[in-house]
Amino acid sequence: MTQIDFPQYQSLVRTVSIGKQLPDAVYIHKSAIGQVPEELAVLALQMAKTFKIPVNKWNIVKFSKRSFKITFLNYPRFEEYAYPELQHSYTVDLQRLSVRKANYSKSDNPPILHRKETFVSDDYPHYTLFKEITNEGEKAGLYAKTRNIGFKKNWERLINTKGCFLDDAGRLHKKEVLAEAASSVEISASEIERHKTAIDRNKLSSPMQILARHGYFDGNHSVLDYGCGKGDDVRELEAHGINVAGWDPIHNPDGDLAKSDIVNLGFVINVIENINERKETLKKAFSYAKKMLVASVMVAGESVIRQFTPYKDGVITSRNTFQRYYTQSEFKEYLEDSLGQSAIAVGQGIFLIFKDKLEEQHFLFERQHIRRNWKQITEREARTQTKQVTKDLIDKHKELFSDFWETTLDLGRIPANSEFEFSERIRSIAGSHKKAFDALKDYFGEETYQSAQEARRNDLLVYFALGQFARRKPYGKMPDDMKRDIKTFFNSYTNAIEESTKLLFSVGNPQVIEAKATNAYKSHPVGEFVEGHSWVIPKKLLDDLPPELRVYVGCACQLYGDLDDIHLVKIHFTSGKVSLMKYDDFKKQEPLLIQRIKIKLRQLDIDFFDYSDEYPPPPLENKQLFIVRGKRLT
Ligand SMILES: C[S@@+](CC[C@H](N)C(=O)[O-])C[C@H]1O[C@@H](n2cnc3c(N)ncnc32)[C@H](O)[C@@H]1O
Repeated sequence: MTQIDFPQYQSLVRTVSIGKQLPDAVYIHKSAIGQVPEELAVLALQMAKTFKIPVNKWNIVKFSKRSFKITFLNYPRFEEYAYPELQHSYTVDLQRLSVRKANYSKSDNPPILHRKETFVSDDYPHYTLFKEITNEGEKAGLYAKTRNIGFKKNWERLINTKGCFLDDAGRLHKKEVLAEAASSVEISASEIERHKTAIDRNKLSSPMQILARHGYFDGNHSVLDYGCGKGDDVRELEAHGINVAGWDPIHNPDGDLAKSDIVNLGFVINVIENINERKETLKKAFSYAKKMLVASVMVAGESVIRQFTPYKDGVITSRNTFQRYYTQSEFKEYLEDSLGQSAIAVGQGIFLIFKDKLEEQHFLFERQHIRRNWKQITEREARTQTKQVTKDLIDKHKELFSDFWETTLDLGRIPANSEFEFSERIRSIAGSHKKAFDALKDYFGEETYQSAQEARRNDLLVYFALGQFARRKPYGKMPDDMKRDIKTFFNSYTNAIEESTKLLFSVGNPQVIEAKATNAYKSHPVGEFVEGHSWVIPKKLLDDLPPELRVYVGCACQLYGDLDDIHLVKIHFTSGKVSLMKYDDFKKQEPLLIQRIKIKLRQLDIDFFDYSDEYPPPPLENKQLFIVRGKRLT
């Protein structure tokens, strides 16, 4: 149906000299469509007709420069409102000959237009007025940085922080009194309203949720919420029977300041404007921790920070509170310098600092320990060659022996007496763990056990390799179960380190990454594999990857934290990068990408990119690639 192909289309778009030019596209008002090359104008109008896009339902046309697509956009208030909102868009895919409609009419934060004069030609009736509006905004400094102004809410927030407001036609006016106050008065510490930083929570804060996911609220750990604000986390944990106390200098100064296994310092550091007090608070909170401190701050980039008034090393928000926004690596460094301990990233702006180093090793290893589902294997038909006496004994105490076998498979070795809850019982029946193990190996077969051994050995190798990547000092003491692991799988600690060093070094070689990914893709053909470039996989597939790829992604995660809220992971083969993708709702037909995190391993740098501002969230168009045999992996 289309007369031209993509390269012809691209070269035509390149010749367009009117409209708003952006790197990815050119936008033109309907009134100026006659001024683009005729073939392009005809193509656009033909598409609008073919796909039955009503003439009164679009007034701006977007020609994409990088894809073979034309979008028809409808801004109903284009004429009368200074910054009109997008109501509908129709994107025509010229390759597939399909159309996708997006409806923003119910959105409270739709995309908006600025600089309307750029979309029309200079003989357009309101051209001069449009220019005037733009000059107005420029004078007020609204275009100083444009990354964040594409959506209604950010735009209005920016206008507010500039001490202005918009009238019914969207024209800009100064809020005289406020503006004067903001510019002439020096902010003093006494004016900062720290108490306002505490918010009402109706679910556990993210640091507490992370602790819950790692099993720390099993009732065996006491918790102190230091700087607990209004105490919603404390109330929730109390309701679950956790031994928890909360203290806050403003909201709960009489709270119980008791030494506790875990201390939470949740979003406190970032509200303290005094740099000395900030450090003292951190150290004090750590002094109350018997096992670990979880410390969190707000993480934000330039685009957020510049919306506020600078103050000391942070900013003053519109609510007159202080905020010291950090980057992920800046906060890690701050914690490590202040406390002299390594800080382990578990989330965005959330770190654990362990006082109990055995617990730290346990935590780090558990992160690498993949709990595999051996269950269906234990339910397998017994082998016929099993000796009668053993089979009878196992059948008689099926549940007990199954439990023992699962523990054995999970460890990849015979559990020590202290590692199996019903050790005494099984020993009284089978004589010893060894005898129970021999019988079960015979009962279920050698292969399952061999896979379990290999899996556990790999978990350990990954753990040691990541410890070296983090330059963690060798621990003075090691948990007993890890000593047993080392003895069983490596014979000595030196061997374990030697082997994991080799593994870590191999990961620096792009050819190894590509070869391992290619092989893994052959056995798990899931995700988007681009030869010589990258592999995008659902997060759950990470557990099935070879140790080299687990270490590669694991190194990246040391900068980011847990991948709980991540859906897809992109392994770049040659550039030493890992990207993490977070979607709005992965159950949707076409989930929208809301955050992309790029981790550059060579530079040890991490970039958070939020879609929602000037760059609308792109949909995941090939979701079917991330689904295996009808089962969603993410
Ligand atoms: C953003 S709120 C966080 C509250 C709570 N942790 C939460 O996550 O919901 C910051 C809290 O830090 C408290 N705070 C301020 N200065 C503090 C200090 N020097 N020591 C302990 N807490 C402090 C404030 O009173 C406020 O309740």
